Amino acid sequence: MTSRIIAVEPFDLVVFGGAGDLAYRKLLPALFHRHADGQIPAAARIVGVSRRAMSDADYRAATREALGQHVADADREPALVETFLKRLHFIPVDARSDAGWDDLGTLLQKGGGRIRAFYLAVAPELFGTISAKLGGKGLATPATRVIIEKPIGHDLASAVAVNDAIGQIFEEGQIYRIDHYLGKETVQNLMALRFANALFEPLWNAAHVDHVQITVAETIGVAGRGDYYDHAGALRDMVQNHMIQLLCLVAMEPPAEMNADSMRDEKIKVLRSLEPINAHNSARLIVRGQYRAGGGPNGPAPAYASEVANPASATETFIALRAGINNWRWAGVPFYLRTGKRLPTRASEIVVSFRAIPHSIFAPEAGEIEQNRLVIRLQPDEGVKLNLMIKDPGPGGMRLRYVPLDMSFAEAFGIRSPDAYERLILDVIRGNQTLFMRRDEVEAAWAWIDPIAEAWQASNETPKPYPAGTWGPAASIALIERDGRTWYDEVG
Ligand SMILES: NC(=O)c1ccc[n+]([C@@H]2O[C@H](COP(=O)([O-])OP(=O)(O)OC[C@H]3O[C@@H](n4cnc5c(N)ncnc54)[C@H](OP(=O)(O)O)[C@@H]3O)[C@@H](O)[C@H]2O)c1
Repeated sequence: MTSRIIAVEPFDLVVFGGAGDLAYRKLLPALFHRHADGQIPAAARIVGVSRRAMSDADYRAATREALGQHVADADREPALVETFLKRLHFIPVDARSDAGWDDLGTLLQKGGGRIRAFYLAVAPELFGTISAKLGGKGLATPATRVIIEKPIGHDLASAVAVNDAIGQIFEEGQIYRIDHYLGKETVQNLMALRFANALFEPLWNAAHVDHVQITVAETIGVAGRGDYYDHAGALRDMVQNHMIQLLCLVAMEPPAEMNADSMRDEKIKVLRSLEPINAHNSARLIVRGQYRAGGGPNGPAPAYASEVANPASATETFIALRAGINNWRWAGVPFYLRTGKRLPTRASEIVVSFRAIPHSIFAPEAGEIEQNRLVIRLQPDEGVKLNLMIKDPGPGGMRLRYVPLDMSFAEAFGIRSPDAYERLILDVIRGNQTLFMRRDEVEAAWAWIDPIAEAWQASNETPKPYPAGTWGPAASIALIERDGRTWYDEVG
């Protein structure tokens, strides 16, 4: 079985930062896959832009190499690679000067009134500058869209400034703020599970859900992004965007329709219902950590402070927090969020734990009865499992066993799980903003985050140390155990 492919309209996609890491590692491979599946019409063009001098031929050669590294051999049919590379162009442009803009304009002119998308895969300081130039040079047509990615600001005030600068040139309906977690197959599946089945909705509330855990664990350190990370930390890099977005999708009310504004209207209600965390309660609700030298799956690891060459760094590389949602559906249900670098495994998952049964009819020898859990795994192996108690098969007495019911069907259907960027870039071309963040969502998330960052600053408390390769400071275990719960460990 193959998935249904519907071709999009012809477009010009201009990637500012087209010769950068994000473009070579994610964007161009994603576009290649869509090309290989026949979803991109012959006339569509991809234009890389950056300051360095590169010809079309140079860019095609560099992209061929990048595809070699980031697309599996089996998916890289040589004829398809060649036809893909023919779509590529490169124009040297310095966003901060006037150099190159006319050449870009001339190339785009040839596309007539077709859809134009500008992907700003550059440092966020350039978002406003590039938008102003696009406006000033007359390149922002009504059929133009602009795509930006985190970090959108480092606090509420700076996020408002970025949004204002882009908003000077583009309408909200033209702005696509990517959170690539929302493009993941299993996140889509969460929507299908919740809203295409009658089974879960009656249970999806404080009466039946005991708690929710959202974990984003990385094994890597700061990997060349030390400068950025030391100013951001886990709170701004992971919690403000990816984790809060996941929390919103789990917690939101059913939208009236699966369209952009219905979904975003529901997500923002969750954001506005989040229990404030501030100087009064942050010590009780949040644990911050920073890794010291240690081990882990990647071998011996240096301490964070030496990796970023800042011995006095008070930046957190780990956070565990307990969030609450003050509304009728979720009152009293803790949402535990945990993220960190240099942890023992790479895994991102959402675990919805249902309440324990009210009374057991089984003898103690039958074994312990665990909570039912719905586990939505975003990476590395995307999938959905429902953990249930069953009778241990076979003769003999009644013994109970906790087993996962695997609801991941991509493998069964023989479909490669697409990368999030494949879906998201084509959604931009289709003009579908459902999986992108609206301005008010980004700003509401910062409004919740800012008091946390301010509380840390005011307290002068430094992050708790943890050895690289472990699950963060012991205090993070105490945070959840205090409530009589434990962090989820995968079952069989
Ligand atoms: N890499 C990722 O996986 C990832 C993931 C999520 C978000 N992001 C965000 O995406 C953005 C790009 O990240 P990256 O990792 O791709 O960075 P990168 O590898 O440093 O690439 C930056 C690109 O911007 C170009 N550039 C810099 N200044 C420019 C200017 N004045 N005018 C035109 N082009 C300019 C650079 O090329 P020249 O030097 O030739 O100008 C380069 O192509 C950052 O904001 C990052 O936070 C990245």
